[in-house]
Amino acid sequence: MTDDRRQRHLVDLDNRRTELAGELFETLAEMQTRCPVAWSEASGGFWALLKHADIVTASADWETFTVTDGIMIPPTGKSMPVIPAELDPPRHGAFRRLVLPHFTPKALGPWEADIRRIVADGFAPLAERGRADLVTEFARPVPVLVICRVLGIRSDWERIHDLGEEFMAAFADTDHPERGKAAAERLEAFLAEEIRVRRGRPAQDLLGQLVNAEIDGEPLSDTEALGLVQLLVVAGHGTTVDGIGTMVYRLITEPGVRDKLLTDPSLVPRMIDECLRLHPPVWNMARTVRRETTLRDAELCPGEKVMLAFGAANYDPEKFADPFAFDLDRLGLTQHLTFGSGRHRCLGEGLARLELRTVLEYLLEELPPLELDGPVVWGGHTNSHGLRSLPVRVTDAGRKPVRARTPGDADV
Ligand code: HEM
Repeated sequence: MTDDRRQRHLVDLDNRRTELAGELFETLAEMQTRCPVAWSEASGGFWALLKHADIVTASADWETFTVTDGIMIPPTGKSMPVIPAELDPPRHGAFRRLVLPHFTPKALGPWEADIRRIVADGFAPLAERGRADLVTEFARPVPVLVICRVLGIRSDWERIHDLGEEFMAAFADTDHPERGKAAAERLEAFLAEEIRVRRGRPAQDLLGQLVNAEIDGEPLSDTEALGLVQLLVVAGHGTTVDGIGTMVYRLITEPGVRDKLLTDPSLVPRMIDECLRLHPPVWNMARTVRRETTLRDAELCPGEKVMLAFGAANYDPEKFADPFAFDLDRLGLTQHLTFGSGRHRCLGEGLARLELRTVLEYLLEELPPLELDGPVVWGGHTNSHGLRSLPVRVTDAGRKPVRARTPGDADV
């Protein structure tokens, strides 16, 4: 039964509906205009914050909007919190201080050469065959190979890849929460072993450093170590794959953009941001109301779920003029909420950006232009969105890309 407090804000938004993927941003933008703070009856009921400014406000106010009751709508069946995403201050800040220094652009610098190699190896089949599915054949393995390299997990990246995929897929299946729980347990068992062999021993890698760290003079508990490693390992999988897929899609389909980037490579970061704005791989995260609050004309009560709809914020015309247009010159382009906002802003942003830049530069410098080789497939689940298939083929194989040329190269 819906009370009047909610009834006035009622919209039809069910993030479990797979058909939403094909029309996600149009749907969110229309709701944003009609009802900026909306109430949905789906998944037990939740408020959806659709305006950029409201999401920034809520993200900054942890005393009203807590993460400790979970960050997914509908809730997952998992038994232990992911860290630091499901911690409020002060414990949250302590974990950020522990991990963040290892993920700054400066700290990641030494990994750049390895990432280049992973990307080049990944593109080899496309370079050889002249055609490939850029999502399933290229993008999928890249983030897991990279995070394993950075953390120091060398033994079995393929197993982690499969466990991570299974874990994410099982969580998408909200009708069968027991599947999610079982997949989480399998991933946890694998990671617990990686942690066990490092605990209490001199650190040889980043994973060893993290699991042997102390906070306020105390070692991390087993649950904390596992919750932290689990999030670091899986947070970048699907997200970065989706980011790579949509960026390449735009590179191929936006008229003139490839030549523009070749002529002015300083536009590469803007290209990455505009693609992330238009196609946020994580289009929402959740909070729970802890104390009564009013947002615009909506009254929110303790215990109610709140969806931070980053995917709507990125198309908010008050923030981004002509929001559906692809525009590398737009003002305020980096202010999208694809990595969230405030204290829980993505910790792996620097790594994700480095991976995206490496892929884009490789495409511009090492490969001839690509074109679509069949229909693309959009997909997503409760909070993710991206391409599930992007068939591409090399065009004009003889053409040398401008940036790869050295003085003296003859025109062909
Ligand atoms: C394009 C790729 C990525 C996207 C779009 C993305 C997006 C996000 C978003 C939206 C949040 C949550 C913000 C919130 O709840 O307010 C988040 C948090 C987080 N992400 Fe990412 N992410 C990406 C890649 C990565 C990678 C590669 C890592 C690996 C280190 C990572 C690690 C994390 C962690 C640890 C958090 C929790 C931060 C906290 O609660 O303090 N992410 N990410």
